[in-house]
Parts: sequence; C-alpha cells; structure tokens
Amino acid sequence: PQRMKKVCCIGAGYVGGPTSAVMATKNPDVSVTVVDYNKDRIEAWKTNELPIYEPDLLDVVQHARDPVAKRIPNLFFSTDVEGAIAEADIILLSVNTPTKSMGHGAGQASELCHLESAVRRIGEVATSDKIIVEKSTVPCKAAETVRDILNATAKPGLNFEILSNPEFLAEGTAVRNLLHPDRILIGSLNTPRGLAAARSLADLYASWVDRSRIITINLYSSELAKLAANALLAQRISSVNALSAMCESLGADIDEVSHCVGLDQRIGPKMLKASVGFGGSCFRKDILSLAYIAESLHLPQVADYWRSIVGINEYQKERFTRRIVKCLYSSLSSKRLAVLGFAYKKDTGDTRETSAITVVNNLINEGANVRVYDPLVEEDRVWEEVLASSDRRETVKQRLSVWPSAYEACADADAVIILTEWDEFSNKISGPGDARGRGGDRTKRVLDWSRVAGLMQKPMYVFDGRNVLDAAPLEKMGFRVESIGKGVV
Ligand code: NAI
Repeated sequence: PQRMKKVCCIGAGYVGGPTSAVMATKNPDVSVTVVDYNKDRIEAWKTNELPIYEPDLLDVVQHARDPVAKRIPNLFFSTDVEGAIAEADIILLSVNTPTKSMGHGAGQASELCHLESAVRRIGEVATSDKIIVEKSTVPCKAAETVRDILNATAKPGLNFEILSNPEFLAEGTAVRNLLHPDRILIGSLNTPRGLAAARSLADLYASWVDRSRIITINLYSSELAKLAANALLAQRISSVNALSAMCESLGADIDEVSHCVGLDQRIGPKMLKASVGFGGSCFRKDILSLAYIAESLHLPQVADYWRSIVGINEYQKERFTRRIVKCLYSSLSSKRLAVLGFAYKKDTGDTRETSAITVVNNLINEGANVRVYDPLVEEDRVWEEVLASSDRRETVKQRLSVWPSAYEACADADAVIILTEWDEFSNKISGPGDARGRGGDRTKRVLDWSRVAGLMQKPMYVFDGRNVLDAAPLEKMGFRVESIGKGVV
C-alpha cells in the first residue's frame, strides 16, 4: 500500500495549531505532526486545555487527535523537531516573524531568525526530498533566503521546493476562516518541479476547499499579497479612525458614516468600525515590514504612506486617553477607572499589541488606579504586558489591579472604559432566548449595566472604545456615555 503522506508543521502557535488541526481533520489519510521547541505549548496541545483559545478549536483538534469509531489518529504534537522533519514530505513553516528588536532595521524589519533556525534544522536533518512551505508572514524574497540556507546546509542530491502559502485566518474566527477560506494562495517557481509541488499542496486543501478558490501564483506575488492584504485591512481601520476624530468635532456619528460608506459595493461594509485602534501581532509588524521593504527599494514616499497608517493608530490611542482626562475634569489623580476588556479583540485571549497596553499605561501615568477585567485573558498576561511596556514599573505595581468579574472591577469606579468588544459588555445584543450567560463559558456572560450603575461613583462615565453600547438606555440610567467618533451637536 502507498505510504501515508506526512506533513510536519514547525511552530505550534496561533497559526500552526489551528491550521494543522483543520488540515488533519479534512485529510484522514495524511498524518500531520506539529512540532515546537516550546515544551509547555506542545504538552498543552495534547490536553483539552489548549494553549490558545479559539471558538470550536477543541472540537476540530479532538476530531483528528483522539478520534472515535474507525478513524485512526492523524494529528500529533511533539517536541521532536528533527524526527518530524526527517519523516515529512511537506513541511509547513509557521514560526513567529516579529519585528526586529535590535540591530539593522530594528523596530521595522521582520526578524527572520526563527525561520532561519527552522530551515537550518531541515537542511541538517533531511535525507529525502521535501516541499517547504512558508506559512509564516515573511518579507518578499524570503524564499530566496530559505533556498540559500538549504543549498548551504543540506546533503547534496536532495531536492527542496519552496512554496509560499500565507495564512489569512483572523484570530477569534480562525476555525471558521480555515474551514471556509476566501482563497488559498500558493506561490511557486514557474518550473515543472515548482508547479508539481504547488499541485501537491493544492491537493491537501482540495479535500475541503473548492478548487476555484485555490490560486496558484508566482512565489513573490504570493509573499507580497499577504503583506498587502494586512496593510489594506489596517488602512481601512485607520481611515475610519481618522474620520472619527473629525466626527467628534463636527457632531457627526462615525457609525452612520461607516454604514453609509459601506453600502457602496466598491467599498463594502467590513473593517470599517471605528475604535480605540487596532492591535494584534500582525497589522503593525506587517505594515512596518512593508514600509521597510519600500524604503530598501528606494521608495521613501511609499514607505511614509504605509507608516502613516501606524501613525494614525498611535494617535487614536492617545486621543482616546486625552478625552478621558478631559471629561474627568483634567485630572485622573487617584481616580478609580475600570477597564473592561484587555484582549486585542473579542473571542481571543491574545494580548499581543493590544491597544489596552497603551491606554492602561497612559491612564496610570496620569495618576489613575486602573482595575482591569477581561473574560478570557489571564491575570499574569495583563501584568506582563503592562509592565513590559512601562518605564515606571513601580508605579504600575501600585496602581494596576486585575479582577475576576466586571462588577469587582467597577466597584467605586469613577469611569468605565471599554477596550475590547466582548459581547458581554454590549447592551445591543439581548432579548429573550438570549443564549449568552448560559453554562460555565466565561465568554458567554452578560453584563447587567443597572448593577454597574449601583456600584459606581457619580458622575458615572463610560468611555466606549469599541462602540458596542447603545447610549440611550444607559443615559436613562444616569450614565454619561462617550463613544468613539460621536460628537455632541
Ligand atoms: P506564535 O508565536 O503563536 O507561534 C510561533 C511558534 O513557533 C512558537 O510557539 C515558537 O516557539 C515556535 N518556533 C519558533 N521557532 C521555532 C523553531 N526554530 N523550531 C520550532 N518551533 C519554533 O506565532 P503565530 O501567531 O502563530 O504566527 C506565526 C506566523 O504566522 C507569523 O509569521 C505571523 O505573522 C503569521 N500569521 C499570524 C496570524 C495570527 O493571527 N496570529 C495570522 C496570519 C499569519
């Protein structure tokens, strides 16, 4: 019988874990091994307390990892990186590619050291031909770097084909995005071997994705398309946030403006929500990487254009803090502020680059006592993130606290500040038959705003950094609601 096809995914993070789980579930005849040198992470993937939270992820993992009935397990997690590389036909590189923190290009260029070390390992270990797939987001022409390292490290006579297959999942909806992708990009060299490798990878996806959505293109177009997609998505958010500043001065309502603009089919309604700014591990780093590439191509105007998107995002966070200070009589000294939500968006526990880091630090620097609650983010994560980006660590230790419920965070608070759009905080989603709040799922709670009113100091300010509130009913309860991009006429 034909040998089972083997896939190895290097990097068991937000991309590697969910992507491998879906690939294994949909290809019962393919064995998928996810490897990582982070032992704790790998051990967690073997339990039912997965290292990352994504709706429905556990079901998908269990389906392939510990199947019932006749199916045999085909999803494995291991720290034996070398062993999995040696056995694999296809290797997915899903390692982190953060912004460089030191040296040439620090604060802008992508740090490729993790990618390099994974590729070196492949070169050293491989004794058979492999297809190497860039799933990580990488700068353009990274495939040449990969090829160069393999040429220098691998045994002679082996053939490696390098493909670009960027991942477009969004955290919080990763499983849905993976099961129903808008498109799968596969970039390859336009050679017989390159095209054959692209076909092999396309066949894996074709088990659940319609062929019409699997697009095979030039290697470098594929690498650039990922950076371009993130830059354009972030650009929409920054454009709307720039407009939100105008709305506040004009007495216009950004939600109405976005709605009307989004009805134009050329524009469309998505990613037009004003907020306290985007976060997450990707947008900022990918735009900075794109800008750095533009600069190295001697295109400074292009670089400036992309960087301005990040600039507006920083401005939006500062602007939000300034508004809080102004409303609270120009001083936060010893005021108690409840921060609801710390994750960078709802339905994830991920806090990387979350706007909350900046806002919380700003509030603490203004003298406030900040009381954080998030339904999913662990207390330790909040502390680590705020401390890591503060130059006043002792002050943070005195003025920051993390609470297990919104009500505890809101006790005696002068203001409530919403920084994540968790359904729990919204008073727009409700009604009989409301499924929220049932069972033990912490992401399904519902906040009782009248109870919050009973807990707070007067006047009761709410700063809605995600526009999840319908202000009118809250104002009836006595709240003063300040939303992004909504001016007082
Ligand atoms: P992550 O940090 O959650 O996971 C990366 C994992 O790779 C870590 O667990 C790390 O220990 C492991 N690793 C690093 N070097 C290794 C090596 N040499 N050998 C074995 N394991 C190694 O990162 P995440 O969020 O999964 O992102 C991975 C890539 O995917 C990045 O390039 C990112 O830009 C891209 N991406 C991320 C998305 C997201 O929503 N998080 C979405 C689309 C793309």
